[in-house]
Amino acid sequence: MESDIHQLAGWIQEAGSTVVLTGAGMSTESGVPDFRSREGFWKRVDPQQVATVSALEEDYETFHRFYRLRVRGVERVHPHIGHEVLTHWEHQGRIYGIATQNVDRLHQRAGSRQVWELHGNLMQFHCYDCKEPAERSRFLEKDACLSCGGRLRPGIVLFGEWLPEAVWVEAMEAVQQAELLLIIGTSLEVYPVNQMPTLCRGKSVLINAAETQMDHQLDLMIRGKAGQVLKQVEQALNKEGEG
Ligand code: NAD
Ligand code: APR
Ligand code: ZN
Repeated sequence: MESDIHQLAGWIQEAGSTVVLTGAGMSTESGVPDFRSREGFWKRVDPQQVATVSALEEDYETFHRFYRLRVRGVERVHPHIGHEVLTHWEHQGRIYGIATQNVDRLHQRAGSRQVWELHGNLMQFHCYDCKEPAERSRFLEKDACLSCGGRLRPGIVLFGEWLPEAVWVEAMEAVQQAELLLIIGTSLEVYPVNQMPTLCRGKSVLINAAETQMDHQLDLMIRGKAGQVLKQVEQALNKEGEG
């Protein structure tokens, strides 16, 4: 592990451009459950029942209850040391930006500026039927759309929906140009984000608590917790800086 930490610190030091890709494992140390681990959301709820367009259309009550809980949940949590390290690295010019599958805005709340939200976020709301933007309070109260009386939803990507095209294209271009792709806290099970590691022309490193189906395609895997590992890598970088 020690040598892996130093190997990663060296690669970050050498890379002209490093892009970071994060998933739900980046937020669990802030208290936000992930999806496919033992305590993950999808171990308690069937995503087909809540995280799909048909769920919204056929059972708005269940859809709304699930996402109202999630909206309230992410408003109570705070960034952890791992988010702060990534913000330091952006300010120091060590990383170019963060492509995230997370919808909790913890990267932005830690101070990261270039963040591509590939799956949207839980802080913006609109009407499913007429696309009119809607107030958070009206969503939480399960009010109808003021323009058309339709159903309000958070601005996240549901299964089967397309990613926000402009965000996707910009993030993809950054990954393709990067000399290093640092992947943190994701099972890499969801398409099309799980194609990113193979599209990076440079090296790809994964910091993750568990094995993934793509481990064999990556240059380095560091098994561990995002916050702890990022802190150790920052310490190694600072030591190199003093050296
Ligand atoms: P899926 O099988 O419908 O997803 C695969 C499809 O993703 C592909 O066939 C492709 O058509 C589509 N896709 C979406 N955006 C794309 C893009 N910008 N470029 C190319 N293809 C794109 O559903 P799944 O495999 O069960 O889950 C993956 C889908 O779920 C993706 O559409 C993803 O955006 C979405 N998603 C939902 C959540 C959530 O929390 N509900 C989170 C992450 C991803
Ligand atoms: N540090 C490092 N890794 C962690 C930590 C942690 N503190 N906590 C959990 N992990 C790992 C888990 O072992 C798991 O492999 O993070 C990974 C999280 O994977 P998922 O739960 O599948 O989440 P993610 O990859 O982000 O899912 C992608 O699927 O359903 C959608 O909306 C969901 O955007 C999400 C997408
Ligand atoms: Zn409407």
